[in-house]
Amino acid sequence: MSDFAELSVEGKKYQLPIVVGTEAEKALDINKLRDESGYITIDSGYKNTGATKSAITFLDGEKGILNYRGYSIEDLAAKATFLEVAYLLIYGELPTAEQYAEFEGAIRRHTIVNEGVRTIFEGFPVNSHPMATLSSLVSSLSAFYPDSYEGKDNSDRHIIRLLAKLPTIASWSYKRAMGHPMNYPKNDLDYCSNFLNMMFSLPVEKYEVDPVVASALNTLLILHADHEQNCSTSTVRLVGSSQANLYSSISAGISALWGPLHGGANQEVIEMLEAIKADGGDVSKYIDMAKNAKTTGFRLFGFGHRVYKNFDPRAKIIKKAADEVLAKLGVNDPVLEIAKGLEEAALNDEYFIARKLYPNVDFYSGIIYRALGIPTNMFTVMFAIGRLPGWIAQWKEMRAAKEPIGRPRQIYTGATLREFVSIENR
Ligand code: MLT
Repeated sequence: MSDFAELSVEGKKYQLPIVVGTEAEKALDINKLRDESGYITIDSGYKNTGATKSAITFLDGEKGILNYRGYSIEDLAAKATFLEVAYLLIYGELPTAEQYAEFEGAIRRHTIVNEGVRTIFEGFPVNSHPMATLSSLVSSLSAFYPDSYEGKDNSDRHIIRLLAKLPTIASWSYKRAMGHPMNYPKNDLDYCSNFLNMMFSLPVEKYEVDPVVASALNTLLILHADHEQNCSTSTVRLVGSSQANLYSSISAGISALWGPLHGGANQEVIEMLEAIKADGGDVSKYIDMAKNAKTTGFRLFGFGHRVYKNFDPRAKIIKKAADEVLAKLGVNDPVLEIAKGLEEAALNDEYFIARKLYPNVDFYSGIIYRALGIPTNMFTVMFAIGRLPGWIAQWKEMRAAKEPIGRPRQIYTGATLREFVSIENR
């Protein structure tokens, strides 16, 4: 294959270097295009535009492949802990037993959060959306750890702090909304058990973490840990490219994830299922409404994906975990029955099959989180806890590569130059 593609425009020819990745993905390098031709490219939503080269995550939308640092998501979900995967994403290799003990131990020792952050939290309205408080409080950590922006590259300490403290901060929203006392982390619990204990333990009774629930949470967090240049990760890289500190960059990622078209989709799925239940639970009615979306305006959340064209590999793993968790916990929830009806229709109805509208990771994650007792408005928070190591890894990679500040171009379509008219004459 040639090393260059040739572009011919206005009678001139330009050579665009061809870039080929380790998984045979191909790109045209247009770094010199504007300087040489005066042209830029335009690609709303960046469907055809690569922002960077990355060695962290590979996904193949056609084949339904998702690998973190070369390890398949299937292998990692079945065999690793979430913190092993976090270490792998951030540092590039699975940790040795010694490295893991040091990493996991450091995280256990940093789970407590400065009481000043809690004071800020208590200034928020009680019914604040947990994503609003999460993004704000993560940004506030830069004020408590000023060495994160005073030019010292000691990001490892801040990486540990973020991984350790996000679950603690996340649990506060739920406890306060329930009117329950907020719990402190316990250093003798593992990552998932510590979060579940902070979420669900009460002073009035002993709380035992169900190993089935902890294992399902471990799987869910691994499945959400990274997904190459998705909206929130691209946000973290773009904000970080201005040399903004890690806390501010992650806070921006949390804000981007909140959108219903991104991480908010899992909350939309359950709210959609609850609406169907409230309307009598007639799945076929809503299937028809989805098929006539132009007139009904009804959108099915949790189906299809921007990148995966046949199936989302994470959805397959989550579906299996959902069935196991629901069976083991003996959960009998009409909303979940409606979900199964929708899933059955989507997997067998030609309309959905032709449009690749299969259940995605958001469809099943909402079902499991609900079965685990996590409230709907916390679902996107769970996504953020899972995605945190991916955001950190991508931010660290961008900084190590000394990438320039991200600053896209545009094509101007507004008014051309015109004279100012004083207000008396308008
Ligand atoms: C994600 O995991 O970030 C979502 O599937 C969205 C995406 O990758 O575009």
